[in-house]
Formats: sequence, C-alpha cells, structure tokens
Amino acid sequence: MLYMLDTADLKAIERAFDLYPMSGVTTNPTIITKEKRDFLSILRDIRSIIGKDTMLHVQALSKTADEIIREAEFLNESIGGNLYIKIPVIPEGIKAIKMLKKRGIKTTATAIFTAEQAFMAVNAGAEFTAPYVNRIDNISGNGARVVEEIVRLFEVHGLDSKVLAASFKNVEQVHRVLLSGAQSITVSPEIMDRLLAHPLTDWSVDRFISDWEGVYGKGKLTN
Ligand code: E4P
Repeated sequence: MLYMLDTADLKAIERAFDLYPMSGVTTNPTIITKEKRDFLSILRDIRSIIGKDTMLHVQALSKTADEIIREAEFLNESIGGNLYIKIPVIPEGIKAIKMLKKRGIKTTATAIFTAEQAFMAVNAGAEFTAPYVNRIDNISGNGARVVEEIVRLFEVHGLDSKVLAASFKNVEQVHRVLLSGAQSITVSPEIMDRLLAHPLTDWSVDRFISDWEGVYGKGKLTN
C-alpha cells in the first residue's frame, strides 16, 4: 500500500514525511494555486524535500495532446526525479498518455469517475489511475464501488497498474476504498492525521504516563 500526500504545502509535506510511511506527493492545479507563488519553485521545493527517488505527481493543464506532451516534457526537464504527469481522461489526454508512454514519460490518469475511463487509460499506458472518490460520493454515486470495479477490471485482464484513489473528505471513505483493493491513496495532510487519531488512544497514552509518574515520579524511562 502506498500513501501519498495531496498538497503543495511544504511544511505539511516535511511533517508527514517525517512521521508517516509516505511514498509520494500529488498536486493538481487547484492545490498549486493555493500557495500563491511561482509554481516551478513550489514543485522544485517539494522535490528537494522528498528526494529524487520519491514519486511526485504533477498535473498537465492543457486540453490538446500536443500541448499536454509539451507540458509533460517541460515538467520532466524542469523537475525531474521520479515524476508522474497527471493527465485527465479526455480523448486528447488518452492520446497524450499513449505518446508519452512511447517517450518513456510516466503518467497518472486523473479526473476519473468511472471504471471504463480507468481501463482505457491503462490500456493507453498510464501507470496509475486516480478515481475521485468524494466527488463520486457527492453526486450520490459510490466511490468505493467504482474503485472496486477498477481493481477487478485490472485483475480480470491481467493489467499491471495501480489505482491511486483520490479526493477524500473523511476516514470512512479511505477505509472503504482500501477494503475495495486500492493499492494507493492520496489524501490531504488533515486526513492523513485523522487516519491515526482516536481519543481513546490519546487517553490511554496519558494514563500510562500518569500511572508511571505516580510511582516513579517525573522523568524519562531511560533516566
Ligand atoms: C488528486 O489526484 C486529485 O486532484 C484530488 O484528490 C482531488 O481532490 P478534491 O476532490 O478534494 O479536490
């Protein structure tokens, strides 16, 4: 299972990579614009925090294959390292995925709302497919079921590709998606913390410490 962080907030990235078993960072144009500074320096800063071998997924902006390919090559040269270009599953995006595969640039198909979109993207050469779980749930769909169908389609057809489930607003969505077989998720720093948080865990830790201090007094175990 691969955890990725869906943010361009450098402090949040540093903290999560320090604490948690992180495998990568994902961004999209909306996430980048929140930082309100030059996008290339943001991406280079992220790259220098996570290192060149860690996955960084960065989204292309254009709607024609030629432009998407130009953007992908530019990002690949400017940021480098273990980079995946996120490309929406529109027809020109599928064409770009096919062509970038031939040029050795890795892609993540994004803005996925159905299993068939994911299936075609992988057949075109995408390494990851990113279904938008919360956005599906929001229109009375079932994001976890879409993820389950994608995983099943890949298995049935022997496709070696990973689902990068995205767009989460709560822990229950993450839980259902992981049970559905997603091999990777990308979540906000807040959801990453919430995956671990439980009041009884905090209560138990405080109780252990107060019991200890009641007998041995304040101080570390190693004192
Ligand atoms: C990641 O690939 C997506 O861009 C992102 O998770 C979308 O999340 P949102 O629906 O919370 O904007």
